[in-house]
Amino acid sequence: MEEEKLEALLQETRVFQAPEGFRQQANVQSTAVYAEAENRLEFWAKQADRLEWFERWSTVLEWNSPFAKWFVGGKLNAAYNCLDRHVKGWRRNKAAIIFEGENGDSRVLTYQDLHREVSQFANVLKSLGVQKGDRVTIYLPMIPEAAIAMLACARLGAPHSVVFGGFSAEALRDRINDAQAKVLITADGSNRRGGVYPLKANADAALNGAGSIEHVVVVQRTGGQVSMQAGRDIWYHEAMSNASVVCPAEPVDAEDMLYILYTSGTTGKPKGVVHTTGGYMVGVSATHEMIFDLKEEDVYWCTADVGWVTGHSYIVYGPLANGATVLMYEGTPDYPAKDRMWQIVEKYRVSILYTAPTAIRTYMKWGAKYPESRDLSSLRLLGTVGEPINPEAWIWYHKYIGRERCPIVDTWWQTETGMIMMTPLPGITALKPGSATVPFPGIKVEVVDKDGKPVPKGSGGYLVVSEPWPAMLRTVYGDPDRYVSTYWNRWPGIYFTGDGAKWDTDGYFWVLGRVDDVINVSGHRIGTMEVESALVDHPYVAEAACIGKNHEIKGQAVAAFVTLKEGTEVKDGLVEEMKAHVTAKIGAIARPDDIFFTAELPKTRSGKIMRRLLRDIAEGRTLGDTTTLADASVVNALKEKYADEA
Ligand code: PRX
Repeated sequence: MEEEKLEALLQETRVFQAPEGFRQQANVQSTAVYAEAENRLEFWAKQADRLEWFERWSTVLEWNSPFAKWFVGGKLNAAYNCLDRHVKGWRRNKAAIIFEGENGDSRVLTYQDLHREVSQFANVLKSLGVQKGDRVTIYLPMIPEAAIAMLACARLGAPHSVVFGGFSAEALRDRINDAQAKVLITADGSNRRGGVYPLKANADAALNGAGSIEHVVVVQRTGGQVSMQAGRDIWYHEAMSNASVVCPAEPVDAEDMLYILYTSGTTGKPKGVVHTTGGYMVGVSATHEMIFDLKEEDVYWCTADVGWVTGHSYIVYGPLANGATVLMYEGTPDYPAKDRMWQIVEKYRVSILYTAPTAIRTYMKWGAKYPESRDLSSLRLLGTVGEPINPEAWIWYHKYIGRERCPIVDTWWQTETGMIMMTPLPGITALKPGSATVPFPGIKVEVVDKDGKPVPKGSGGYLVVSEPWPAMLRTVYGDPDRYVSTYWNRWPGIYFTGDGAKWDTDGYFWVLGRVDDVINVSGHRIGTMEVESALVDHPYVAEAACIGKNHEIKGQAVAAFVTLKEGTEVKDGLVEEMKAHVTAKIGAIARPDDIFFTAELPKTRSGKIMRRLLRDIAEGRTLGDTTTLADASVVNALKEKYADEA
């Protein structure tokens, strides 16, 4: 599959030079930056001056592979860097967050407003017993309180764990328990396409079995009825009305934990990726300013949800550290109509737009008439993240959104990398649709073969990061062995990304997608094992194997092959019931598009499920090599049955 994708990408020969007008005003105008950054540590030391440190660090990097410490001895506070230093000067009256609600309500928080609310909320958390080092889980919609809650935690030095609002009660419970969080911050509900998604009800269900939570703070967003448990639950607005606006930012060590963010891997249990403070803040601030060419007057809009790493690094920490004006939108792009994105760009004169290929493919499908009906002349730079962008979508984005005027930064990175790792610099890098181009200055990314040796230009292999970088994950929460075995064991000292890639004869990188058992659905990582565990939890299921199947809009969709327990009858509605079961266990993002019942799964003689063959079947291709199968007839029968039913 990867080879096919690659061939399609590499037939792409179009090159778009950085527009001269853009270059002339760009924050980075000369390729000399790459040469300067060849001394990586010096480069990162210089970038560290972007921040205000309470105590300066003494050593840039202590590398005890694979454990890194950056800016050793430094003391700082992330919220202080995002707020306090801006309110000392003219930026205090600059819009920090412009919020657009799904129903068209809006709210602007200046840096001063945000500083006040964050300080107050930090005092609320303190009054609930939250201290430096305590974990706080945040389960909120895309509303300013999500950023306020994150920054309030950071202000106290209490690591947050944001759980995407679309995750189920069970997924929330697992994450609370893994982090042993003391406080949960949620909302009554969130607005979703005119309806209400019941966050508090989910939270209540999650808390049945999450004993570490002592208090729940509830933001009133929809005004719907919710049950409040006396002694445990408090309303955000009530607590805030009594809270002092004075709360000094706690100095934390550069290596103190800023947050945990759970992400899927190749096992059934999500990993708590740990990010610390100093290196992370340096990484996200530098990349945000240089890649998005940030100017004071920009209106910057990243459409990700704060529940994902993109929201952490490029809605909250990077942009606010840089004093940017950040737009935040609560709802879906088709509510109330399919021009909602473009109406918002027009309304706020958005100048930088950062979104995902899956969203672009959706707009493409809806048609150019929606963006064409709006004034998009304020846009000057576009970005993408989350998955490889197919050249067709790139060209559409360039033409209909950027109106052939805006450079596109295709940014490759991961929850684990914390910051963008490969990307164009928009004033200097020639763009090739479908390629995330080259590593960011000071970052060493390579394509290696199975022995960990770099492949020659023009070849493909595994994508690795071969030198530590400031925003890198430090460990897996509570499980350093898993950190080592997941990322560093294949080739000692080299970080394995889990992606396959090729670099072309110009040295441009083309990311192909995951080479492990992780599916990328609409730019979000789903572990096949996670979905399989959810399915096997259904009383009728004996065994399940999930794969990623190519999908026009989502990039990949989950397809599941299921064997039923003996004596189970396939009755009407069983497929729907199982899909609903996965939604309840994990969340709608993991819901399989197809569930297919089979008497047996194709396995090797040692019992390993041959997913490659399942992918061939699901995508209707001729079957690849079947010689290692224990029983070749299984796969032929499966193929025929699939062809009949699909
Ligand atoms: O496979 C790569 C893909 O998304 C994975 C990381 O997923 P996650 O940790 O959820 O973070 C997504 C947002 C940073 C990567 O291993 N990916 C991300 N960006 C790109 C990409 N694939 C190709 N091109 C990209 N620009």
